[in-house]
Amino acid sequence: MSMPTPRRTPLRFPAGFGWGASTSAYQIEGATKEDGRGESVWDTFSRTPGRTRNGDTGDVAADHYHRYREDLDLMRDLGLRSYRFSIAWPRIQPDGTGAPNQRGLDFYRRLLDGLHERGITPMATLFHWDLPQALQDAGGWESRDTAYRFAEYAETLFRALGDRVPTWLTINEPKTVVQNGYLSGHHAPGRQDREAAYLVAHHLQLAHGLAVRALRATGPGRIGPALNLHPCYPADDSPEAAAAARLYDGYENRLYLDSALTGRYPQDVLADLGPESRMVRGIADGDLEVISAPIDILAVQYYTPIYVTAQGGTARRRPVSQAEWQQIYPEGLYDILTRVTRDYGPVPIMVTENGLPAADTLGSDDTVDDAARVAFLRDHLTAAHRALTDGVPLESFHVWSLLDNFEWDEGYDQRWGLVYVDYPTQRRIPKRSAHWYRTVIADNGL
Ligand code: FCB
Repeated sequence: MSMPTPRRTPLRFPAGFGWGASTSAYQIEGATKEDGRGESVWDTFSRTPGRTRNGDTGDVAADHYHRYREDLDLMRDLGLRSYRFSIAWPRIQPDGTGAPNQRGLDFYRRLLDGLHERGITPMATLFHWDLPQALQDAGGWESRDTAYRFAEYAETLFRALGDRVPTWLTINEPKTVVQNGYLSGHHAPGRQDREAAYLVAHHLQLAHGLAVRALRATGPGRIGPALNLHPCYPADDSPEAAAAARLYDGYENRLYLDSALTGRYPQDVLADLGPESRMVRGIADGDLEVISAPIDILAVQYYTPIYVTAQGGTARRRPVSQAEWQQIYPEGLYDILTRVTRDYGPVPIMVTENGLPAADTLGSDDTVDDAARVAFLRDHLTAAHRALTDGVPLESFHVWSLLDNFEWDEGYDQRWGLVYVDYPTQRRIPKRSAHWYRTVIADNGL
């Protein structure tokens, strides 16, 4: 006798859960020379031969600057409740300082109005890596002054757009700027200087805290940092691997979490850097008070775990995606969310990035069958739901990304979007994952 297949219990998310998608300015906008926009470090970097795959740049990208209305309609058709985007600093202050460029502000005002008209709640990131080149020329994030310039820029935005933006994120993934921009150098500004890297980390944290203070001084709205957190697991059972994983975790996670949420840098990391390091010497009295200015929300971005060997190196333990740095491990999302709540208290959490790259292709029937992305997102949402059930105050989940886009040094080969972009025509084609996500949103669950 055959038994009926038991119905899987559906996973329902809390009422009002913020189903969303994320993008960033340089990755989608294009129009790098329009309406008074200045140069950014990513313009310089991507135009330097040998820096990006195929020499790709963000000059056109997904042409979102011209096609944002169509993109807004796509978001509405998906049923998105929340849209996270970033504001290009060089559109607002072409040289990184001084009076704002009205045409730059107007673009974001139109975008924000379009979101509100469609019932989509905006979430604006102040800085997603496109530092004005003029500030880089003056020392970039190695210069403490850049943190103060950032606070002024932030204040300009709070005053100009604060009535339309309920939630602000300060700095996108400070760790990536530190590690990719200043340690490995495969991101702008392309440096390889460990001493500079951690001074940059401190100045990015300082900039974050100054922006939080600036919002409190200018108006309402919620604000927090956007941190990419990587759970660090020992690669084997040895005590050496456990100790190495602990220190690794300090550099990956606690450097940013502890400073922003507890007002202290982790002692093990400071000791490892040493008292004579540029970072440690660069911490002025009162800085940690600024950095730990109370936040309203913590934006968590999760892509991969890290397995740390006894020697302090890393190892592969899970299947890898098209991005060679990404090991696919949905439980890592559960681990990192529950850990943040356990270690730092009940600060409201939003997942602001999670996703999978693939070499998606457009079928002859005009469809894109990205089954692997559907499976990836389903498994990660299941892990997020379990974290919610276990008490994590998770408010929203944003897929990276709404659209295929310029994936930094990887150029356009890695496609991360729910929506396929046919770059020669700029046509948008929702992938299978987009159709699937629309159903998830409509059902408020899986
Ligand atoms: C994150 C970045 C985002 C995108 C994804 C794949 O680190 O914040 O811009 O590149 O990775």
